[in-house]
Amino acid sequence: MVKRMIAGNWKMNKGPMEAANFTEKLENWFSSDEIGRFASQAIEGDAFEVVIAPPSISLSAAAGAKRVEQRIGIAAQNVFYELKGAFTGEISLPMLKEAGCKYVILGHSERRHIFGESDELLQKKLISTLESDILPIFCVGETLAQREAGQMEKVLGQQISSAFSSLTSDVVSDMIVVAYEPVWAIGTGKAASEKDADQACEVIRGLIADMFGRSSAEKLRILYGGSVSVDNCSELLSMNNVNGLLIGGASLDIDSFTKILAKTVPGSFRAKK
Ligand code: PGA
Repeated sequence: MVKRMIAGNWKMNKGPMEAANFTEKLENWFSSDEIGRFASQAIEGDAFEVVIAPPSISLSAAAGAKRVEQRIGIAAQNVFYELKGAFTGEISLPMLKEAGCKYVILGHSERRHIFGESDELLQKKLISTLESDILPIFCVGETLAQREAGQMEKVLGQQISSAFSSLTSDVVSDMIVVAYEPVWAIGTGKAASEKDADQACEVIRGLIADMFGRSSAEKLRILYGGSVSVDNCSELLSMNNVNGLLIGGASLDIDSFTKILAKTVPGSFRAKK
């Protein structure tokens, strides 16, 4: 079974103090809430993964508690591809490692559309991330105009093929997580229906199968992101091609995030006493 990932993307929210506070509350939930303990067992059993992506200034604070490393994966939201040097305002992969990051989100639509990150730049970031042994959560997704023009498959194909062209099948299946995040669903309250999410994730799996073979495609974890909430998380995750969720707004509040975790702990663990 593919390990299910639930990841919270905090975007430009929560400074170091708030981040430390949140992770402490999350740790408490894992140890003192009944379903939290099942979640913890599912993490130990390698069936479930919980990740938070604080802003870079809060990474160390979020990763600070030693226990956190075991139960909560830390992701950065962005990184530069050079390892050091005169790049004012940028953050490097070794710095992310030192701060306790296991993952980095790359190609989020806000990076692509607000900050103009191109497919070429993202390919460089993806390759140096993999070389640094940090695991990328690579985001792809179409805009509303592209979807309405029937270009969803073409856009996903372009984003995937340009970034992944020089990789090997093992790297793709073992190191990369892909997040399908339709731009029209992000922060709008209008999540994709579970059928649309599943269909787009199936398209992505098909693209990976064409490039790297069926077995890589089957192992690849694909997350859905865009207006995920306590109310729609279970339906989205019930789909065959959806292996996890990337959550923005609903990951900021400890109550809604833990409610989502409670609903998404793999069933076999939820039933355990
Ligand atoms: P949202 O954001 O859940 O607030 O729509 C998702 C994301 O951008 O990753």
